[in-house]
Amino acid sequence: MTKPVSEQFNQPNASFDNRLRPTRFDDFVGQEKVRERLLLAVEAARIRGGGEALDHVLLSGPPGLGKTTLCYILAQAMGVQVHATSGPVIDKPSDLAGMLTSLNPGDILFIDEIHRLQTAVEEYLYSAMEDFVLDIMIDQGPNARSIRLELPRFTLVGATTRSGLLSAPLRSRFAINARLDYYTPEDLAKIVTRSAGILGVEVDGPGALEIARRSRGTARIANNLLRRVRDYAQVRAGGRIDAAVADKALAMEGIDRTGLDEMDKRILSCICEDFSGGPVGLGTVAVSVGEEAGTIEEVYEPYLIQEGYLARTPRGREATPLAFQALGLQAGGRSRQPTLGI
Ligand SMILES: Nc1ncnc2c1ncn2[C@@H]1O[C@H](COP(=O)(O)OP(=O)(O)OP(=O)(O)O)[C@@H](O)[C@H]1O
Ligand SMILES: [Mg+2]
Repeated sequence: MTKPVSEQFNQPNASFDNRLRPTRFDDFVGQEKVRERLLLAVEAARIRGGGEALDHVLLSGPPGLGKTTLCYILAQAMGVQVHATSGPVIDKPSDLAGMLTSLNPGDILFIDEIHRLQTAVEEYLYSAMEDFVLDIMIDQGPNARSIRLELPRFTLVGATTRSGLLSAPLRSRFAINARLDYYTPEDLAKIVTRSAGILGVEVDGPGALEIARRSRGTARIANNLLRRVRDYAQVRAGGRIDAAVADKALAMEGIDRTGLDEMDKRILSCICEDFSGGPVGLGTVAVSVGEEAGTIEEVYEPYLIQEGYLARTPRGREATPLAFQALGLQAGGRSRQPTLGI
């Protein structure tokens, strides 16, 4: 029986995540384009000098790819502090005002899940981001008046798994908009090897690649699977991880060779079985699998498309032969298409 990989293994675990979290750009594997742009921004802010803050940065992409990690790397590179919070936690504009006024010049305010900010709070953020001022209303009724707070020049780093839900005005206030992609197995193997070094466990190249291939392109899943394989290796294999040990350990955990999770399989099986491979519209898939269309489009589909299970066509989503194969089906589902003529 296969268990959903991301449900089980893409859960953050604060102490474990922190131990394995790279703190410098040099240790951050993959995401070359994003890395390069951020490095350039850091360099530019440094050249401008005079305690100039880094431009505001929006990091988007599916869970576990390194958004939080990059925020702390940016802070380290700039030599500033991170003040972390999250969209749903900021209840009212005064919460935001409290946070912004306690920043030191150059500091980073990290707002995770920034797509979940309340509209009222979001509107206050506009002038804070643009002009580094906050106009707040005090008192009510006839005594109501607004006072202007000058803020230190700070950097807002926003992280979101659903960049499509961000309003255009908010998005446009980020000078740098970086989207993280799923990792290749080769990059994930490097991450596994690095993490194994930190955890003090021996892993060879093929062993790391075996874990990488089943990690759904996700750094956090790779690290969490490594932890499981390490336990197995320590008890059954003298502490050394090779491809065979990794394979046995992951099979024991119910992780299949594709590393696809429950929702991936539901999406594929909907298209392959219910719609003979497609094409089928996104809205229809969303209703059939019971998930929001936007989440499917931004969180699940990118991986399925990258790995060649799914294609986006002008007429809708189509499953590829690889999808049928992954589900153990005959790719013949599509032969039910009507034949013309005789
Ligand atoms: N490029 C990378 N190189 C090495 N390790 C990485 C990399 N990216 C992420 N990791 C590891 O993966 C773990 C998860 O990353 P992180 O917490 O930054 O993801 P996230 O994108 O913020 O996820 P979420 O959306 O769930 O908050 C980290 O603990 C870190 O060890
Ligand atoms: Mg995070």
